[in-house]
Amino acid sequence: MLVLGIETSCDETSAAIVEDGRKILSNVIYSQIDIHYQFGGVVPEIASRKHVEKISYVVDMAFKQAGLTIDDIDGIAATYGPGLVGSLLVGLSFAKALSYAKRLPFVAVNHIEGHIYANFITYPQLTPPLIVLVVSGGHTNLIILKDFEEYEVVGKTRDDAAGEAFDKIARYLGLGYPGGPAIDKIAKQGDEDKYKYPVADVGGYNFSFSGLKSAVINHVHGLWQRGEEFKIEDVAASFQKTVVSILVEKTINLSLETNIRKIAVAGGVAANSKLRSEFYKKCAEHNIEFFVPEFKYCTDNAAMIASCGYFKLQKGIVSSYRENAVPYINL
Ligand code: KG4
Repeated sequence: MLVLGIETSCDETSAAIVEDGRKILSNVIYSQIDIHYQFGGVVPEIASRKHVEKISYVVDMAFKQAGLTIDDIDGIAATYGPGLVGSLLVGLSFAKALSYAKRLPFVAVNHIEGHIYANFITYPQLTPPLIVLVVSGGHTNLIILKDFEEYEVVGKTRDDAAGEAFDKIARYLGLGYPGGPAIDKIAKQGDEDKYKYPVADVGGYNFSFSGLKSAVINHVHGLWQRGEEFKIEDVAASFQKTVVSILVEKTINLSLETNIRKIAVAGGVAANSKLRSEFYKKCAEHNIEFFVPEFKYCTDNAAMIASCGYFKLQKGIVSSYRENAVPYINL
């Protein structure tokens, strides 16, 4: 089954064609990062206008790269939320219109759920049950994936998402947007044990990063005010170590408690080198298998949406054309 996926939830216009949920025939991404960089973050109005400009071209390119036409396609999947409503509407409307014109089944995909499926692309043999940590700019979710389409969210952030904390601290330190890759890069030159930052005790499998973010900002502010010399590399490395240790510890605990000895991570922060290496290390110690998508499938892309759409269509799930863009939804 060939599924066309469309993703426009934030600042990437993407279209992909995926065969049987696992094999990518094309995955075209037009990134707006260079445009939003000058503003220090995504400007929603600019993002949606750029999606309108690029969507037809990106979908055309996805067909060209796959050597296919719309007549070869069996279904269309598009992200309906969460995200920026003006951005979501572009891809969703495009997908619904194409599906209606070509009488193809249409399925709306939750962006957070889509991130999980990046793992099924990278590992064609991977199947549930699985513990999944989704960490992106807008979400931090700890999930038990019991089967395809069957999951239980056991933890989420009470305030900032992990990626949001990376972005805000990077912005404060003058490292630009997006902040995660910038912190990841300079942290390699820093001493991660130089500063001890507090870990919020929210209990269970929930997370909280807003106190940590404030602690880092206040600490740096104090250093600046007192004229004390310090290296931002050390701040970045110490902050990153704290975030990573919280994420890894809770995820491993859930795996041990449920005895589901397979952990997968997904979302933009899954590209973080410290998170990946720490998971590899701790999973090996506890005899847990660890899965992480290739870098290019960690951040927003339509291949993961097409993959998730395939598994829904396989189960007979189709969406109505009444399905609207929803900026705030959880899993
Ligand atoms: O999944 P994504 O592309 O978009 C959302 O759905 O949010 O994730 C973007 C987030 C941003 O917060 C970005 O700073 C973070 O992922 N990110 C990283 C890294 N690469 C991207 N965070 C930490 N380390 C990285 N290497």
